[in-house]
Amino acid sequence: DVRAVVTGIGSCLPPDVVTNDDLSRVLDTTHDWIFSRTGIAERRAVRPGTSTGDLGTAAGAAALESAGRRDCDLVLLATTTPDQRCPATAPQIAARLGLAGVPAFDLSAVCSGFVYGLSVAGAMIGAGSYESVLLIGAETYSTIVDPADRGTAVLFGDGAAAVVLERGLPGTPGELLHVELGSDGAGADLIAIPGGGSRAPHLAADSAARYFRMDGREVYAQAVAAMTRSARSVAEAVGWRTEQIDAFVGHQANARILRAVGRRLGLAEERVVCRLAEVGNTAGASIPLALAQAAADDRLSKGDRVLMTAFGGGLTWGSAAMVW
Ligand code: ACO
Repeated sequence: DVRAVVTGIGSCLPPDVVTNDDLSRVLDTTHDWIFSRTGIAERRAVRPGTSTGDLGTAAGAAALESAGRRDCDLVLLATTTPDQRCPATAPQIAARLGLAGVPAFDLSAVCSGFVYGLSVAGAMIGAGSYESVLLIGAETYSTIVDPADRGTAVLFGDGAAAVVLERGLPGTPGELLHVELGSDGAGADLIAIPGGGSRAPHLAADSAARYFRMDGREVYAQAVAAMTRSARSVAEAVGWRTEQIDAFVGHQANARILRAVGRRLGLAEERVVCRLAEVGNTAGASIPLALAQAAADDRLSKGDRVLMTAFGGGLTWGSAAMVW
C-alpha cells in the first residue's frame, strides 16, 4: 500500500512590505477598515522584474533542502499569475532547480490550486507513476490587481511556498490521507480576469478587463458554506470528528471567513491557523505558506491532524487531510 508523504516544506516572500497605511495614502481606505474586515495588516509585493517563477524557484529550492533532496521526479506549479500565458512556468522553475528533463506543468485552480495539486501529486505517487513530487504554490497578485480598486488592492499579497511529497508507507509522519475537490463554473464571473484570454484576446493598454476583479460579498457567503461542507466531508472520510482537527489550515482570504468556518466545525480558535496579518491573501500560495509558517513557529507537532481547505476562482474548492 503506497502513500504520498510530505517530507519537506519551504517558502519565499519578497522583501518589500506594503502596510495598510501605505495603501491608505493612495486609496480611499484606512488601516482600521482593512484590519477589522480582513485581519490583514501588511502584505509583500515584488519589485518590477521579479516574477512568480522567481518566487516559486526559491520556495522550491527551500522545500527540496528541507526534504534533504537535490531532485524529484515531477514539478507542479499551482498559480493564477504565471510568468507568461505561454509557455507554462513550471518547466522553467524545474530547469532553474537543475531538474531539466523531469516533467513539469502548471495547474490552474486559483486559490484552490495547491489542494488540487495535492490531489494530483497524491494520485501520481499512489499509482506508482512518480516517487517524488515538488508541488509549488506561487503568486504575484500585485501584477494583476487594479491598484485603484480598493475592493481588491488591499487584500492580496505576493509569495510562494512548496512541499515535497514522496512515496512512503501508511502511518509515516506527513502522510496525505485523503483529498476531495469540487468546482462550479456557473460562478466563473465572481472571481475573474475578464480579458486577455481567447474570449477577449485583444485589450487596449488601458482596458480595465486586464485586471483581476472579485464580487467580494457574494464570494464571502459562498466561501463559508463551501469550505465548511468540504472540510466536514474529508474529515468524515478519514474518520475524524471535526473537533479533533489539531490545525485547520484554510485558504487565507479573510480572517472572518476562517473564524466562521472554524466555529461551524466546532474548533477552538487556536486550532484555526490564521497568518493573514503579515502576508494577506496570496491565493494559490496561501495554504502552503500558512503551513510553512505554522511549522517554522513550532505550531505543529508530530501526529497532529491537519486539515487544509480551499475555496476560490472557478469556482473551485477542495480539502486535504494529512497527519503532520
Ligand atoms: N476601504 C474602505 N471601504 C471599502 C473598502 C476599502 N478597502 N473596500 C470596500 N469598501 C466599502 C464598500 O465600497 C462598501 O461600501 P458601501 O456599503 O457604501 O457600498 C463597504 O465598504 C462594504 O463593502 P463589502 O464588500 O460589503 O465589505 P465586506 O465586509 O464584505 O468585506 C471583503 C469585503 C473583505 C472583500 C470580503 O467580502 C471578503 O473577504 N470576501 C471574500 C474574499 C474571498 O474569499 N475570495 C476568495 C478567494 S480569492 C481568489 O480566489 C483569488
